[in-house]
Amino acid sequence: MLIDLKGVAKIYAGLVPFRALSDVNLQVDTGEFAAIVGQSGSGKSTLLNLIGLLDKVSEGTYLLDGIDVSTRSDADLTRLRGTKVGFVFQFHYLLPDFTVLENVLMPSAVLESRPSKQDRSEAMRLLERVGVAKHAGKLANAISGGEQQRVAIARALARGKPLILADEPTGNLDTANSDAVFKLMREIHEEKKTTFLIVTHDERIAAQCDRIVKVTDGRIVDDQRV
Ligand SMILES: Nc1ncnc2c1ncn2[C@@H]1O[C@H](COP(=O)(O)OP(=O)(O)O)[C@@H](O)[C@H]1O
Ligand SMILES: [Mg+2]
Repeated sequence: MLIDLKGVAKIYAGLVPFRALSDVNLQVDTGEFAAIVGQSGSGKSTLLNLIGLLDKVSEGTYLLDGIDVSTRSDADLTRLRGTKVGFVFQFHYLLPDFTVLENVLMPSAVLESRPSKQDRSEAMRLLERVGVAKHAGKLANAISGGEQQRVAIARALARGKPLILADEPTGNLDTANSDAVFKLMREIHEEKKTTFLIVTHDERIAAQCDRIVKVTDGRIVDDQRV
């Protein structure tokens, strides 16, 4: 099992602490392709951030690939995230002053000071795979939104990460680009058996996933295999 959340809660600290997730139990096997749906403010991004080790659970336990992340140091978690988790966000978060190729290399540049030759050829292969290799040398802000999202997918896949977490990856795209980006994720899942968790508002897209997890008011209220 890749993801195992048991009795998880997230309480944001503050003057008035805010309980964003309660009693979340979620198990995801390697190779699943699942959607997370729910209204705005229901806790989808909070859940994805916990799963992606961007934030820590307040209650309950979280095992990522069998590792109880609560027992690990921040440095360990950063390393774990760097090897296991790729993110795709609604607004791509590419670094605009770097080239497309450099953006895909960024995870390796963070983990080590210099990307290897192997990293570079992998990055080019990934850019080819997502259909934007011809833009490799352009600055990231010089290509279209759909192309940027393809680059973000290539970046998320770099170094063979087994888990891709996508938060509204098509939320900012028109229908044609949205369908193309989703189709690309689906194909990559078929090819590489990468596990995908995709937060989406788009019912059409959710319906094309293998599993739909519904979050309401910080709780999982429905979990169906399609
Ligand atoms: N850093 C934070 N501090 C306090 N409350 C937060 C924080 N982040 C999110 N929330 C609150 O937690 C709830 C869930 O947010 P979020 O997970 O972003 O929902 P969704 O992604 O489903 O729209 C919302 O009510 C939001 O206002
Ligand atoms: Mg959100």
